[in-house]
Amino acid sequence: MKSFHIITFGCQMNEHDSERMAGILKGQEYVQTNDAATADVIILNTCSIREKAEQKFYSELGRLRSLKQERPDLTIAVAGCIAQQEGKNILSRAPYVDMIFGPSDVAKVSELQRLAKTWSNPLIEINGDPDYHRKQIPTLRADRLKAWVSIMYGCDNFCTYCIVPYLRGRERSRPPADVVSEVRELAEQGYKEVTLLGQNVNSYGRGGHDPVDFPGLLALVNDVPGIERIRFVTSHPRDLSAELIVALRDLPKVCESIHLPVQSGADPILTAMNRKYTRADYWDRIQRLRAAVPLIALTSDIIVGFPGETEQDFSQTLQMLREVEYDSVFAFKYSKRPGTVALKLSGHIPDDVKEARLAQVLDLQKEISRRKNAAVVGMTLEVLVDGNSRKGGKLTGRTRGNKAVNFDGPNSLIGKLVMVRITDAGDSSLSGELCA
Ligand code: 5AD
Ligand code: SF4
Repeated sequence: MKSFHIITFGCQMNEHDSERMAGILKGQEYVQTNDAATADVIILNTCSIREKAEQKFYSELGRLRSLKQERPDLTIAVAGCIAQQEGKNILSRAPYVDMIFGPSDVAKVSELQRLAKTWSNPLIEINGDPDYHRKQIPTLRADRLKAWVSIMYGCDNFCTYCIVPYLRGRERSRPPADVVSEVRELAEQGYKEVTLLGQNVNSYGRGGHDPVDFPGLLALVNDVPGIERIRFVTSHPRDLSAELIVALRDLPKVCESIHLPVQSGADPILTAMNRKYTRADYWDRIQRLRAAVPLIALTSDIIVGFPGETEQDFSQTLQMLREVEYDSVFAFKYSKRPGTVALKLSGHIPDDVKEARLAQVLDLQKEISRRKNAAVVGMTLEVLVDGNSRKGGKLTGRTRGNKAVNFDGPNSLIGKLVMVRITDAGDSSLSGELCA
């Protein structure tokens, strides 16, 4: 039997695409291995959201050069967003690559076996399969309790900093019946939690034939017996509808948690980013969410040093963090991306300024996260038990707000929902006691 090894960079979308490639290869009698040194096939599933992600990929690819020299039979494939962006250009840096295919072409991996015997030139497929969203693709999942389920692909937002719309193509939604049948299958296999994935889940169904919108889809998934929790990423603040807020409030399995990237707290920057909401619109949405679901967990993405960002603009972002009090945020220095509108804007910010602003965001948020974590001490919260904590034999799990909790208990609780009284809070996790 031949073996494959996948190295994944980037977002949950990519993690899940890797699970799909693994599913396809397993169906062809390949076995998955954690050991690149002995694998027959190595797939790099790449990300190009920021320069740093790209550099990480190229250094990994560089390391594979000597492996390929030692074992010319080794097949090296480059998948995902850099494959889409660079296509055959990858070969000028790494002529030892055998296959290049984009994120909508992961099904191409099925041709590895057939082609491996005969090909002499690298195989390149970056046209984007227009029917990808209607395909049923086998999946070999990394986890046995929690599963990602793609509900849509692509993105039509064209935020001016972002390369994703150019790489993952136009927005397409999977038919609701396909999503629900995948979730049913997962429930039958014992999965307890699903995370619905898309670049902009709030616009699910837009332009499609089915009348089901995102809150409608949540209601359908909520009805699947066996599934206990539903999460979703990512929501665009502009499209956060009143119906979604009602779904968050009323559907019992939909966790009280939302990732709602604000990116910046300053109106001129939001306009330049083409985010299509103002600081006031965003704040209004947060108020409405909290009015309906008081304990909702909120997380966000922040970009510092977008072209033209003044000290005053930046201070508005800090102010936004103070006012909203997110549970946690992912913060990034603006990174120049080829082909994007922001690249051509004036007023690019020097790296040392970006670095300093990033540090300020992280420091402030650390303090806020600490405070938010401390606020749940004394509460009794529902926890889905994931497994043993890395710190020893203790159990670990997640609250509905997606905070990690460590507590003592028997392994027989793994996979179950339990109530835990929170006794202590750290920067990034909580400790607690199992309730009888
Ligand atoms: N530079 C920095 N961060 C970016 N993101 C997207 N594009 C860029 C870029 N060019 C961030 C956004 C997005 C997250 C997934 O990555 O904050 O929400
Ligand atoms: Fe995911 Fe965007 Fe990176 Fe592609 S570029 S892997 S869509 S984060």
